[in-house]
Amino acid sequence: DKAGHKHFMAKEIAEQPRVLAAALGHYLTPEGTIALPEPGIDFTAIDRLTLVACGTAFYACNVAKYWFEQVARLPVEIDVASEFRYREPPVPARSAALFVSQSGETADTLAALRYAKGQGAQILSVVNVTESSIARDSDIALPILAGAEIGVASTKAFTCQLLVLGALALEAARQRGTIDEAELAAHLQGLRELPGLIDQGLSIEAECQRVSRGLAEARDILFLGRGRMYPLALEGALKLKEISYIHAEAYASGELKHGPIALVDEHVPVIVMAPHDELFDKTVSNMQEVMARGGKVLLITDAKGARIAGEGTWEVITLPEIDPLWAPILYAVPAQLLAYHTAVAKGTDVDQPRNLAKSVTVE
Ligand code: M6R
Repeated sequence: DKAGHKHFMAKEIAEQPRVLAAALGHYLTPEGTIALPEPGIDFTAIDRLTLVACGTAFYACNVAKYWFEQVARLPVEIDVASEFRYREPPVPARSAALFVSQSGETADTLAALRYAKGQGAQILSVVNVTESSIARDSDIALPILAGAEIGVASTKAFTCQLLVLGALALEAARQRGTIDEAELAAHLQGLRELPGLIDQGLSIEAECQRVSRGLAEARDILFLGRGRMYPLALEGALKLKEISYIHAEAYASGELKHGPIALVDEHVPVIVMAPHDELFDKTVSNMQEVMARGGKVLLITDAKGARIAGEGTWEVITLPEIDPLWAPILYAVPAQLLAYHTAVAKGTDVDQPRNLAKSVTVE
């Protein structure tokens, strides 16, 4: 049932404020702690966290790495499951391995989990389908409570994965004493505001639809982001190629001049994801290098960022202001809407893109 939407993907994008609110209600206690299933996770007993997944779930791990490292000062290793499982890395004592999967059945992720388990690591997972192999094989499985996701392109599962990982990073910070009470309270408040902000963020849909008509003409599209926004650039590029079949690549903004800037000309739209945060100026200077070479920039930012850097761009999409820590969750919305409307403009099969399956149960 598409609840009046043209595609499951559109329905699932629109559902995000509601499902995120449900996940928040599940994980945040009124006392400002994070409710975890028994036996809980002792973050003071681990010195390292390994995050493993595939596709979009892997990009959620990429964002979470910034959170765990910056807020909880916990070193994080991340890897795609298909590499992790065959690399057979040593899993040190005092470490936990966390696997993220919407379906809970992805073959490589499950094999990676079993490898880490064999090495004696504590096994955590973040899953949507709680009756799944990955959930069953974990010491603790954290549900993301996104509800059934039918569209092959993951949308609400991604933002719910981020929400759970963000809450977990805050809990790790609280236990490890790397955050003071006021900061913790502020970031928790920031999480609570997310459903409302995503709801406001969804109002950019008409603009995304208009811009997407231009994107649909492109052969190649670049996405740029720095810091916590780099994984969002990766997610934006994956979403776009998955359903519109346009070749899209993402780079960390700072890598631009190490090669990819050679691709830039007036035919290549460059989508820059840059909230006005501590790295904004750096990203903007990369963006200006693109514009100086005739590149067509779509800047996705907030009102402050638009005021400072909007001039000379091709298009600007403005999102509400948000606690910079949680910006990746909000910036998933334009990544989803641009991919969706570009695919619709091209007339591709949005919910069932060619060559792809919802659940990749063979390697
Ligand atoms: O079910 P999983 O989260 O383990 O699936 C992982 C990937 O196959 C999945 O995220 C894929 O990349 C999506 N189609 C992306 O939209």
